[in-house]
Amino acid sequence: MSWITKQQLADMPAISAPEVERALDIAARLVIGNLPDFTDRFPKAYSENGFYDAADNVDWTTGFWTGEVWLAYEHTGKEQLLEAGKIQMDSFLERVEKKRDVETHDLGFLYSPSCVAGYKLTGSQVGRRAALLAARELTGRFHEKGEFIQAWGPLNAPDNYRLIIDCLLNLPLLYWASEETGEERYRQVAERHIHTALSHVIREDFSTWHTFFFDRESGAADHGATCQGYRDGSAWARGQAWGVYGTAISYRYTRKEEYIPVFEGVTEYFLSHLPRDLVPFWDLEFGDGDEQPKDSSSGAIAACGILEMAKYLDEKKSAYYREIAKKLVKALADHYAVKDPKESNGLVLHSTYSNHSPYNTCNHYGVDECNIWGDYFYMEALTRLYKDWQVYW
Ligand code: GLY
Repeated sequence: MSWITKQQLADMPAISAPEVERALDIAARLVIGNLPDFTDRFPKAYSENGFYDAADNVDWTTGFWTGEVWLAYEHTGKEQLLEAGKIQMDSFLERVEKKRDVETHDLGFLYSPSCVAGYKLTGSQVGRRAALLAARELTGRFHEKGEFIQAWGPLNAPDNYRLIIDCLLNLPLLYWASEETGEERYRQVAERHIHTALSHVIREDFSTWHTFFFDRESGAADHGATCQGYRDGSAWARGQAWGVYGTAISYRYTRKEEYIPVFEGVTEYFLSHLPRDLVPFWDLEFGDGDEQPKDSSSGAIAACGILEMAKYLDEKKSAYYREIAKKLVKALADHYAVKDPKESNGLVLHSTYSNHSPYNTCNHYGVDECNIWGDYFYMEALTRLYKDWQVYW
């Protein structure tokens, strides 16, 4: 088993501007082609044999599809995408008003790329109202004891008194709500969660814990554990990628200088544990020579985070990180992206949602398939490279 060396990484090609445009054209065309199936309903979180089934607006992932619709709308200006986006925002409003499947910290994943995006792009009051209701629900999951937003399950459940690294991407919804309403509370909750999360999920070598538990009585930090990674002490590829984007987002909103070296450390750990083709295995413990599935979505997520952070760094670092992101995106566009709808109704092949191992606690599904956030973040990364993009997060 081996990982890419610094020199090999430096020698990898970066995506060019015409290649970005071509890849985005293809992605937008595929999204438009899927509208008949996915306007009143949504793609499931993961494909089966390369194809997503349609599902109701439940689970934590439907916002990514609406996000793809908005990105395709931005790219093409096509009216049918605008109409689909509006129909889907109605569905998101109904979901939060009826409190259907909203007992989760994933409200940011659900409502930022769908409703905040729709509000920013079209001024939709439906989108605004839905996203504000979702933000209010999300603050309800904040624990004063421990100072974190509980990830999963009923509040205070003894086996779930924990945060997970993924949650950093749910917090932009709170910053947006604070700006919209002028209410400080949203921002304060986000800031306190970031502080707690970054104090505990980052290990000394800048690998990351997927989940971190706290004591329910005292709020004291207890222990880290994995759910979807290979084993407790390993670095789940997507957790590390959420860490890359999460630290960039944390810096975007707090401008705390101490988060810059955290971003750099987490990112370098990710980069130094990639295989030769720059698309991670599902856990960074694995490298070339291991018979393990890939998680292409992690490459897309990390590319987006790197491009976000590159905006705030000095010229030299910014150029370095932009170049790295272009390499990650080229690897996906050339070898993993779907080009023909007969092959799949997703955008990026070879992702892994939840791979059960003898040492983890997750169920087994969506292994070596498309997943809907991988598709979304691939399009987001291309859009970030294509133009100066107004972020949905
Ligand atoms: N946030 C859940 C996952 O990345 O699978």
